[in-house]
Amino acid sequence: MMESVINSTEPIIYLGPFQGITDVFYRNLFRQYVGGIDKYYTPFFTGFVNFSAGRARVSEIDPDLNDVETTVPQILSKDADEIIHFAERCKVLGYKEINWNLGCPYPRVANKKRGSGLLSHPDVIESILGRLDGNLAIGMGVKCRLGYLSADEFDKLLPVFNSFPLTELTVHARIGKQLYKGSVYESDFIQLIGKTNANLVYNGDVFSVRDYNHFNEAFHSLKYWMIGRGLLANPFLALEMKDHCILNNDEKKEIVRKFMHELFQIRLKNANGNLSALGRMKELWSYLVWSFGSPLIAWRLIRKARNLEEYESAVNEVFSELGWKGFGFESDRSW
Ligand SMILES: Cc1cc2nc3c(=O)[nH]c(=O)nc-3n(C[C@H](O)[C@H](O)[C@H](O)COP(=O)(O)O)c2cc1C
Repeated sequence: MMESVINSTEPIIYLGPFQGITDVFYRNLFRQYVGGIDKYYTPFFTGFVNFSAGRARVSEIDPDLNDVETTVPQILSKDADEIIHFAERCKVLGYKEINWNLGCPYPRVANKKRGSGLLSHPDVIESILGRLDGNLAIGMGVKCRLGYLSADEFDKLLPVFNSFPLTELTVHARIGKQLYKGSVYESDFIQLIGKTNANLVYNGDVFSVRDYNHFNEAFHSLKYWMIGRGLLANPFLALEMKDHCILNNDEKKEIVRKFMHELFQIRLKNANGNLSALGRMKELWSYLVWSFGSPLIAWRLIRKARNLEEYESAVNEVFSELGWKGFGFESDRSW
């Protein structure tokens, strides 16, 4: 692990949550093998009111498996009482903060006025925050987009967010309708700098140190960043943004090889050998292949693996035949 010594000028970098990818096993092994991340978020919980979910979901916030100081449990809900209950439960487990997901763009979520679907209804958000005010056991941050149908929606959202003592406000600078397509609304995000009461965290399309330098200049050296797909593709991205990475490409590839091997073993064990572990690994690979010299070749090898033997032989081939490049993720490319 190459954890950074924080100095005041370097960025504070969070890893965004990815349902099905950045589970507790990923987060723990990432800390152990790579590091450079200041805070991790669990993929969102839903239906927490009737929470009797299986072991897998509970392990996401089990304090024996998670570092409660640097992990933030996330909830997707439009029910204030459920959020209150979630915060209470997280407090008992030792967490310091929860995060409210107002960014999920998928129509089946958004059409029910949840996730980014709530952003077109600042009055509903205001009334939920009103109910939460004074009733939350621990602090709460929000992760949102600039709006659902239009980035102008943020004009009404900003005073609502500013009226509540949020721990932080993370903005993925897209609108919900975009899903993950098109570009980020850079100039709309710039308008928010210095106008939020909570710490403002930028999220969206930081895929390389070059992207970071570009946004950092545009955002006047913003302090807080959340990165996602760029780090799934290049696990060393946060260390590189902090200028803490001294590894050469062969050393990086070797660390990633060990990390991916251990991640697969632990997921397999946790799934009692079930092939769902293979599906999860493939999802992560769909990002990671971009760091290899020939992403398309790497992806073809991994994608066609249908059982454990085929998967392990594909992984061996990728690591032994292809060089590590460490950049090149393209967000609009679908395989
Ligand atoms: C497959 C997938 C799953 C995601 N799951 C979550 C989630 O559970 N909670 C959340 O707040 N965001 C989720 N996100 C959004 C990411 O955390 C992040 O905000 C988004 O990818 C934009 O950042 P990036 O451009 O740095 O990747 C997900 C995104 C993808 C593609």
